[in-house]
Amino acid sequence: MLVFQQEKMFARFLVLTLTASLPHARASLPLVVNTWPFKSAAAAAWSCLQSGGSVLDAVEQGCARCEAEQCDGSVGFGGSPDENGETTLDAMIMNGNTMEVGAVADLKRIKNAIGVARAVMEHTEHTLLVGESASVFAENMGFVAEDLSTNTSVSIFSQWLRGNCQPNYRKNVSPDPLKSCGPYRPEGARTLGKRARLVNALSHDTIGIVALDQDGHVAAGTSTNGLTHKVPGRVGDSPIVGAGAYADSSAGAAAATGDGDLMMRFLPSYLAVELMRTGTDPSEACKTAISRIKRHYPDFFGAVICANTTGHYGAACNKAPTLNQFHFMVSNLESNTPVLKSVDCF
Ligand SMILES: *[C@@H]1O[C@H](CO)[C@@H](O)[C@H](O)[C@H]1NC(C)=O
Ligand SMILES: *[C@@H]1O[C@H](CO)[C@@H](O)[C@H](O)[C@H]1NC(C)=O
Repeated sequence: MLVFQQEKMFARFLVLTLTASLPHARASLPLVVNTWPFKSAAAAAWSCLQSGGSVLDAVEQGCARCEAEQCDGSVGFGGSPDENGETTLDAMIMNGNTMEVGAVADLKRIKNAIGVARAVMEHTEHTLLVGESASVFAENMGFVAEDLSTNTSVSIFSQWLRGNCQPNYRKNVSPDPLKSCGPYRPEGARTLGKRARLVNALSHDTIGIVALDQDGHVAAGTSTNGLTHKVPGRVGDSPIVGAGAYADSSAGAAAATGDGDLMMRFLPSYLAVELMRTGTDPSEACKTAISRIKRHYPDFFGAVICANTTGHYGAACNKAPTLNQFHFMVSNLESNTPVLKSVDCF
């Protein structure tokens, strides 16, 4: 899996022309910003807006494109098998005008997680549905249930089993999780300091999109298949409001990607939006959201993108493995096509 993704990342750098993000890039509306160099997702969201779709439609279609194309193997079906070998999906969509949110987590057997998230928002009074019951809800709403495994995910899983289930995310259990596949029992005595974090940009990408239209409507959303080899039931930051994404048409929008287990403790998307509400420059707002996490976890990998209501945008990151830079896409009328941007990390 790691080798596979490294190759993909390398290919990406060869193919795409890098455009350094200017400290004071010109702003205009409408605007779409998304995490990672997911160009076709950016194009889907942008052309949706340009052809009269709403900001919610743009966010949904951009995320759905990534789900269908299995962006980097870390969005959609057939990626990031959990300890049981199953791919499960997390997604969220937020309407910054009404503050409505729809989200799903640990969704099984349904490919279009962002579509189900939107159905939660539009066809229930709830915000977040999880697990098996979310899948039943989705089927009732007309989504097709199918196996999310592919040859790739099956092979990642069997390789992991052959390698004694390494790496895994257990701690303070016996038998020793560094050497075994369990089953595990709690082991109170073994608190031997921190294990090295297993998460980096190669093991977890999330598509996060923020979209703003000419009339000041703002939306944000995310979609991911989470963390490879996660403990079944694990939910990351992506479907959590204020963590994976946040949108408020009176302030702006933000989305996050990275080590979700850590990032969700700090609500970085909410923080970035609240800072922009007080007039903080978007780049500074994203930086502060990252710094807050870095204070506790200096080596975590993560990135935040954000935009304020006048179409100014920014991004910040910590410890990206490739050149210590984070790449994202910006679509607005400056070029009328998605443009790859980069930001230097802390
Ligand atoms: C998956 O593997 C099976 C069995 O090895 C093979 O027959 C099939 O063609 C493969 N599918 C794809 C899409 O590669
Ligand atoms: C958005 O950010 C830019 C750059 O910092 C700033 O000039 C502009 O006033 C901000 N817009 C709002 C509505 O705060």
